[in-house]
Amino acid sequence: MVSNIRNKQTTQYPHSLAVTSITFLMYLRKKTQNMRKLCLVVATSLFVVSCSENHQTEPINNKNTLPMDVHSAYQNSDARVSHLNLSLKADFDAHILQGTATWDVVSNGADTLYLDTRGLDITDIVDENGKELTYELQDYDSVLGQPLSIYGVANVKKVAITYTTSPQAEAIQWLEPEGKTPFMFTQSQAILARTWIPCPDSPGWRFTYEATIDVPNHLLALMSAENATEKNDEGIYHFRMEQSIPSYLMALAIGDVSFAPLSNRAGVFAEEHILEAAAWEFAETEDMIVAAEGLYGDYDWERYDILVLPASFPFGGMENPRLTFATPTIIAGDRSLTSLVAHELAHSWSGNLVTNATWNDFWINEGFTVYFEHRIMEVVYGRDYAEMLSALSRTDLIEEVADFMETRPEDTRLKLDLEGRNPDDGVSRIAYDKGYFFLRLIEETVGRDRFDAFLKTYFQTHRFGVMTTEMFLDYLRDNLISDDEWNAVGVSEWVYGKGLPDNLPAVESTRFANVDEAVKMALDGNKPDNTDQWSTHEWLRFIQGIHDNLTGDGRGILTTLDDWYGFTESGNSEILAAWWQPVIKHQYTEAYPAMETFLVNVGRRKFLTPAYRALKETDQIDVAKAIYEKARPNYHAVSRQTMDALLNHPPA
Ligand code: BES
Ligand code: ZN
Repeated sequence: MVSNIRNKQTTQYPHSLAVTSITFLMYLRKKTQNMRKLCLVVATSLFVVSCSENHQTEPINNKNTLPMDVHSAYQNSDARVSHLNLSLKADFDAHILQGTATWDVVSNGADTLYLDTRGLDITDIVDENGKELTYELQDYDSVLGQPLSIYGVANVKKVAITYTTSPQAEAIQWLEPEGKTPFMFTQSQAILARTWIPCPDSPGWRFTYEATIDVPNHLLALMSAENATEKNDEGIYHFRMEQSIPSYLMALAIGDVSFAPLSNRAGVFAEEHILEAAAWEFAETEDMIVAAEGLYGDYDWERYDILVLPASFPFGGMENPRLTFATPTIIAGDRSLTSLVAHELAHSWSGNLVTNATWNDFWINEGFTVYFEHRIMEVVYGRDYAEMLSALSRTDLIEEVADFMETRPEDTRLKLDLEGRNPDDGVSRIAYDKGYFFLRLIEETVGRDRFDAFLKTYFQTHRFGVMTTEMFLDYLRDNLISDDEWNAVGVSEWVYGKGLPDNLPAVESTRFANVDEAVKMALDGNKPDNTDQWSTHEWLRFIQGIHDNLTGDGRGILTTLDDWYGFTESGNSEILAAWWQPVIKHQYTEAYPAMETFLVNVGRRKFLTPAYRALKETDQIDVAKAIYEKARPNYHAVSRQTMDALLNHPPA
């Protein structure tokens, strides 16, 4: 098989120039072994366009220089965009954003520019002189939305698209809980940026941006950009993002939030009632940044701030550059869930600096990030601690693979094929944990020193660029591993094979070995007495062990465990989410009211899916549906879509 790999080069150029040069590179690779899947003659043409005052310039590729992204219309475009000027007004009554997206165009002589949109109401499109351009929205596709064709752009420098978002825009959640101040936020990954900005919605294409956001009084607007830390009286906020980013990292949040510094380059934004707790919880952020830089090179985004979102945020975290979006459910009061910060921070290198070219290469973002996250945690908290994370990751992986092998075995490959499907389908433990263990296996095979040196150069070489699975394998072969090592690892099987290779690295955790002993004791009805110093991870292992080994009517044991440890009343979201599993399986109904409160208040999909699924699979679908009826209005569209499908709920 020969794949169409087109290599995108990142080049540093002097920054004060406008469109500076066109470079044609011939990139010739020979297919040397059949296990290396690709190689062909690649012609890469680079336009180098400077972005404003400083930072990197970015290459804008010809459409033939990137692999097919089946989830974007933009790659059909010969005309390209390099910079966005966004001007939006947020209307909390109508639940809409209204304004103009002005794109700098590099037409390359082409007449038509194609952008991605979904549910946008476009009123007009003009060029830099205010001259109207004709345009057309193509047929609606349930996965892709409506590609937008803008005609007559051959000699045009800018296109200004005036539009309104739909109140149902999937990226956006508008929250106006009674008696509380309003809040709105966006979640663009994977292909939801197009529901609030007409854009090239493919991870393989980058642009710089500036924005002006007009919000109601008393609210602060924040973006994945340079941010103000205080509200102003006019309610108009200006943003600049001078480093080029792909569309899925476009983010906006508006709320009554305040700021607390964590160090001179890190801080946290949160609603006042939670700000102090958040600042305490995330106090070790600077240590993590220092650890990360020590491993793989300088932090390239100047500031690292965290925004604490309402509990309906559908993810644990989202690596929006300069401003990680985080669920409040990691504020546990004991800093026990901050590996999520390490994870989102790690994306500043793996993902935001070196970006998966398409969603089929999603593991290039997430697998590397889990690896990097565990390395940061090891530096800051020790090997013991990191190995607990790895052990949990291993258990999750084995479980997910077993499950997928029965239902969708092709999705157990690292390299995915998501054509015709929503890329959200590719979000699973495979990209994260199979990706992680693949990299860990390489590390164990070549030794940590060699692997670290390689990774540091990898991030440096490809910064502000994109990466396909195949480009990575080529780079790996050329810069790190020998043929023998390649074969010992079984690279092709790991990347293109289904299931799990039999050389899955082992994880040694003495702390978990102790927990496993405690599980046995507890199942025999004896209270383990060595739990005082346990971290959340040990408790998770404990609950998992109980769940896996408790047979028959478990209600008695669950009641006893609750007496001993008060799980049902825990303030720790991870512990609660794990606890619902045995609770549901054994119909320990005393805990159902607490479970319902949790499911109604928390919108984090990782917690919702296992609970609703367990209810469904244990003939308690009526319980699931009753809870879901109450909870659904509080969920973001991302979580709603998944639960709708799981529970056969008709979409709104
Ligand atoms: N980028 C992801 C979240 C994401 C993935 C959103 C795919 C949409 C599509 C983020 O970095 C992430 O992995 N979050 C995890 C954090 C965890 C692995 C520490 C989450 O939300 O649980
Ligand atoms: Zn991630």
